[in-house]
Amino acid sequence: MQGYRAALLRFLPDDTMERIDDALVVVDQGRIADAGAFDAVAARFPQLDWVDWRGRVLAPGFIDVHVHFPQLDVIGSPAEGLLPWLENYTFPHEARFADPAYASAMAELFLDELLRNGVTTAMVYCSSHAASAEAFFEAAQKRSLRMVAGKCLMDRNSPEPVRDDTRRGLAQSQFLIERWHGRDRLGYAITPRFAPSCSDEQMRGAAELAEAFAGTWVQTHVAENRDEIAWVAQLFPDARSYLDVYDRLGLLRERSMFAHCIHLDAADRARLTASGASAAVCPTSNLFLGSGLFDFKAAAQAGFQWGLASDVGGGTSFSPFRTMLAAYEVARLGGVTLSPQALWYRHTLGAARAMGLDGLVGNLSAGHKADFIALDARVTPLLARRTGSAWSLDEWLFAMIVLGDDRAIADSVVAGTTMPRLTPPSRTG
Ligand code: GUN
Ligand code: ZN
Repeated sequence: MQGYRAALLRFLPDDTMERIDDALVVVDQGRIADAGAFDAVAARFPQLDWVDWRGRVLAPGFIDVHVHFPQLDVIGSPAEGLLPWLENYTFPHEARFADPAYASAMAELFLDELLRNGVTTAMVYCSSHAASAEAFFEAAQKRSLRMVAGKCLMDRNSPEPVRDDTRRGLAQSQFLIERWHGRDRLGYAITPRFAPSCSDEQMRGAAELAEAFAGTWVQTHVAENRDEIAWVAQLFPDARSYLDVYDRLGLLRERSMFAHCIHLDAADRARLTASGASAAVCPTSNLFLGSGLFDFKAAAQAGFQWGLASDVGGGTSFSPFRTMLAAYEVARLGGVTLSPQALWYRHTLGAARAMGLDGLVGNLSAGHKADFIALDARVTPLLARRTGSAWSLDEWLFAMIVLGDDRAIADSVVAGTTMPRLTPPSRTG
């Protein structure tokens, strides 16, 4: 049993946040056994050893509901929109992940980056090569991380080195599900890349796999970019909309995560809500690629679940602070003001709900897995100054969102183990 004494941030039953200035978190066998005001908790555990992290603030680990592991080195590749970006940078780079040694080295760097930024759970695209998913799951398993991932299915409209074969891609997915889904803290996401790169047969096969293997996730992209949408309309002339392509093939369900969801209409949003599927909202990516602005007002009216996501490498940062800030700014452009607590919720507990993992991760209270971060607001002079003058929890959170970065993540704790402090990534390959 191990205790941590620090300030504490967590969500109350009404999804608002509370801050306890002097708190004690008790971890037993990778789970949170107790958490609350220091005096009260310490009285319940008189023999407890605790580390003194006073000056820091413990908070739930961040959850990134959509990120591409093979795109770490694609960040910052400028293009005139999604389709040229995929063709000129992303597909050629993902071809390298056929090499298991390269994929393994990159999986380590990718997980280092997530943890450096306080992200302890993510829903992850691997490349189309089964070897990339093997490498990713092995690396995540070694660190006892809660990760959901899958190899891309993409059997058409993509260059040969990243294209898979319809049946072989599905067979590899099934093999990976049987090998990794439910093993330790890992889960499998069946991953049709997006409708333009998948045949009907492959997407139907993906839906059959999702039906056959209980608890698996589905992840794909939808309604991100106008050119992409026009292409989908040509490829699927019978579908009512882009989302409807997936709906007809049986891919709208609980545990399905649709990235972007920018250019939807009211009928699409109603279907998302009714089906129990979720949206991954990726504001830094949408701004960088010029894809469009997620409609936060329409999402709230429709009531579907959504979480925040980096979408690296279309997205520009692994840092949840950058993603929350971009979400705030995009919402403002749509006339919506997201509170700092709401932003934080969408990257922690709300993201856990969107993935169907609430109760396990996303909050810092008894019974949850001990996946949490220690924030240090003193790491830069301006952050120290601005948080120091904050007169409310919301002010403090907003200062962190606007001024914080990976330096403010002093430590990440995963299943009760403090992860080694990480050095900046070096070049591989
Ligand atoms: N649509 C299909 N593939 C991708 C991808 O890798 N990134 C983004 N942002 N959109 C996609
Ligand atoms: Zn994506």
